[in-house]
Amino acid sequence: MTIRTTARAAALALSLAAVALPAFADEDAPKNLKVLPKGTGGREVHEIMNEWSQSLGVRCDFCHEMKTPGDFRSIDWASDKVGHKEVARRMYTMMGGLNATALPKAAGEPDAAVSCVTCHRGLTNPATLDKVLLQVTREKGADAAIGKYRELRERYYGSGSYDFSPRALQKVALTLADDKATLDASLAIAKLNVEQNPTAASAQVVVAQVLDLKGDRAGAMAAVDAALKIDPKDRQATRLKQQFTQQTISK
Ligand code: HEC
Ligand code: HEC
Repeated sequence: MTIRTTARAAALALSLAAVALPAFADEDAPKNLKVLPKGTGGREVHEIMNEWSQSLGVRCDFCHEMKTPGDFRSIDWASDKVGHKEVARRMYTMMGGLNATALPKAAGEPDAAVSCVTCHRGLTNPATLDKVLLQVTREKGADAAIGKYRELRERYYGSGSYDFSPRALQKVALTLADDKATLDASLAIAKLNVEQNPTAASAQVVVAQVLDLKGDRAGAMAAVDAALKIDPKDRQATRLKQQFTQQTISK
């Protein structure tokens, strides 16, 4: 980065802070600290708070009571009225316990530590994409899950919050394929994977596996051929092709 862009970034960060947080001054001594070390100064608290906000992808009022909606100057920082603030305190305490002994001991590394972002990745709910989509599928059906995928991809693609590689949808489709009652949902997700990842042979392979489970051998074979067209050396596609061909001959 050049000095000029660094300076511009710093200026931007300052102006954002000035716009977003007019009511908060670093000089203000914190009045209601219950988990951060006593004596933590205003500036330090502010830095910690910025980090927590970024880790969860939220603004200050996710945890702090805003007396007038939309008006940052009306935030009462010491207030404990918003439930998320208490959860954050418990999270901080849980994390401190992990980092103090359990984690270094398990890792065999004295410096091993997690921070909020290790789990949260810019999200309030750190569940992985496959878990989110499985839950939506089971509660509201495949169409809702597909809508959720598109919404999350639109918002988070490139942020690192979710894995948008073919792996996540593959996992969802194969998990749903374990249960006959959700085979149709599995196929819908597998097709979404092909649509989103047209150059991934693995996505076609999943469609082939699900169609085979549904008894559609011709469709399964077509998907295998599509996979081999993308990658003639794909091992799973090659294996399925052999398996399907042998079974046809022995019939
Ligand atoms: C994820 C929840 C969360 C977010 C987001 C958050 N805070 Fe906090 N904040 C807390 C918690 C919890 C405490 C109390 C810590 C303690 O008990 O030691 C606190 C304390 C504070 C205090 C001290 C208040 C006092 O007088 O005791 C200030 C000031 C503060 N936060 C500012 C901010 C600012 C500014 C932001 C946005 C950049 C922010 N917070 C975002 C959870 C949050
Ligand atoms: C070991 C992983 C992990 C770490 C580290 C962690 N969290 Fe969490 N956090 C979770 C999980 C899991 C949930 C539950 C999400 C759910 O099911 O809604 C959660 C939930 C929360 C919630 C409630 C969100 C909501 O929508 O209700 C807040 C607030 C929160 N965490 C703040 C923090 C803060 C602040 C830190 C760092 C001090 C932190 N967490 C560190 C895993 C973690």
